[in-house]
Amino acid sequence: MSYMMGIDVGTTGTRAVIVRPDGHVLGAATGDHQPMRMPKPGWAEQDPEDWWQATIFAVRAALAEAGLKGTDIAAIGLSGQMHGVVLLDKARAVLRPSLIWCDQRSQAQCDWITARVGYDRLIRLVSNPALTGFSAPKLLWVRDNEPKLFERAAHFLLPTDFARLRLTGEFATEVSDASGTLLFDVTNRRWSQEMLGALELDSKLLPRAYESPEVTGEISRETALVTGLKAGTPVVGGGGDQASSAVGNGIVLPGLTSATLGTSGVIFTYTDTPTLDPRGRIHTFCHAVPGKWHVMGVTQGAGLSLRWFRDQFGASETWLAGRMGVDPYELIIEQAAKIPPGSEGLLWLPYLMGERTPHLDAHARAQWFGLTAAHTRGHMIRSILEGVAFSLRDSFEIFMELGIPVEQIRASGGGSRSFLWRQIQADIYGKELVTLRTSEGSAFGAALLAGVGAKIYSSVQESSREAIQIRERMAPNVANVQTYDRLYQVYRSLYPAGRELAHQLAALGEEAR
Ligand code: XUL
Repeated sequence: MSYMMGIDVGTTGTRAVIVRPDGHVLGAATGDHQPMRMPKPGWAEQDPEDWWQATIFAVRAALAEAGLKGTDIAAIGLSGQMHGVVLLDKARAVLRPSLIWCDQRSQAQCDWITARVGYDRLIRLVSNPALTGFSAPKLLWVRDNEPKLFERAAHFLLPTDFARLRLTGEFATEVSDASGTLLFDVTNRRWSQEMLGALELDSKLLPRAYESPEVTGEISRETALVTGLKAGTPVVGGGGDQASSAVGNGIVLPGLTSATLGTSGVIFTYTDTPTLDPRGRIHTFCHAVPGKWHVMGVTQGAGLSLRWFRDQFGASETWLAGRMGVDPYELIIEQAAKIPPGSEGLLWLPYLMGERTPHLDAHARAQWFGLTAAHTRGHMIRSILEGVAFSLRDSFEIFMELGIPVEQIRASGGGSRSFLWRQIQADIYGKELVTLRTSEGSAFGAALLAGVGAKIYSSVQESSREAIQIRERMAPNVANVQTYDRLYQVYRSLYPAGRELAHQLAALGEEAR
């Protein structure tokens, strides 16, 4: 009966895992989501009801795989894609599709927030600048563009908290996810009344914020019927996907850093106190460890770059993989392995959905630079793997500039399952890359937080000591480090050189729609 469940409402699917206190995963399953809708460049929407159906599927399938019943689960932790906006009316009905984390339509609202609140005051109130990625500008976009609908909004929830509402009937959130709304006083770990006042938003819209291992509600009777969970099972706060993944990777002490390659890519480090970048290039958020914080740099188009390649150009690999019963990514990445480091002078800028760290630019655009007739598909694929790692290296450079220690890098996320992508990362970061026994990431971390809430562990740090073990250490290859160091200098000059042109192109693209 002391098993823990973690549920992660991701971008491409919702995953449920069942974990034993020693960290062994007994069952795991994913319910797929509909692909995000992109009605215009930079817009990204998903349907909350779709997440809920995926949650039901994942929970039932994970229980079946583990051969367990709902009564075997001591507690549940939630995690999920951050920053999305779910609006509900008084009767709890979803008012419109969710504007999700990578939606970039709210630049005008960001400019308005910065002008109204003032840049320095913004950092003082909520520790971060106004970015299109965050929730508040998206909320204001709906208020500005769909005023009638916004008037009917009685509740704003983050994606994870929508799942929480369906699971428990409670309106609640937790501090790490709330940090990404731009409405949360990150230093004092509570909603910022001053910020809400400045933006003329009613605090009644917001759910109550808990620390991550705290119990936020219990599985309701209706939910027990559809999921197979037991009514009354406690559901803890959990965390935003990055904070949960950090807990699952043991990033709970100074010096420990993770590099996560999901749809987005994130470099995440624990800090004892809130550490601010005066230029706002990295985010300063509450950690899922009570009373602690973290910083993170985010690349919008990490795994997304490779998925985009697969979807647009990978029909043959997808077909063949179907016949061979393997994952199409295996066949795609195989081609990159034959190409030398540096892709013989081809670079990929992964700004398919604008970029956060370090450029904070919703209009940044992706590109291949350096193509010649001698380049092949393999070069293009390898350059994508390298370009994503270069963009994550930008975050390490900022950490260094701010004196934030990085002693060990732990690789996680779907992208890090690839041996080649791990080696490329070690070589581009110039540091040893560690992988752990489980690569379950966010859902696993949410399960550990559930374990803390259920008193199976005495603290989040203890959950790491009990449940996390190192599996592999990958050293950087000295010759490759040198090649990549030189290439990185070209990489980091490309965005500033093309910035104005990218903005012109983005405007022309908008006009053409
Ligand atoms: C973090 C972020 C992404 C999303 C989707 O700031 O935007 O990690 O949560 O994974």
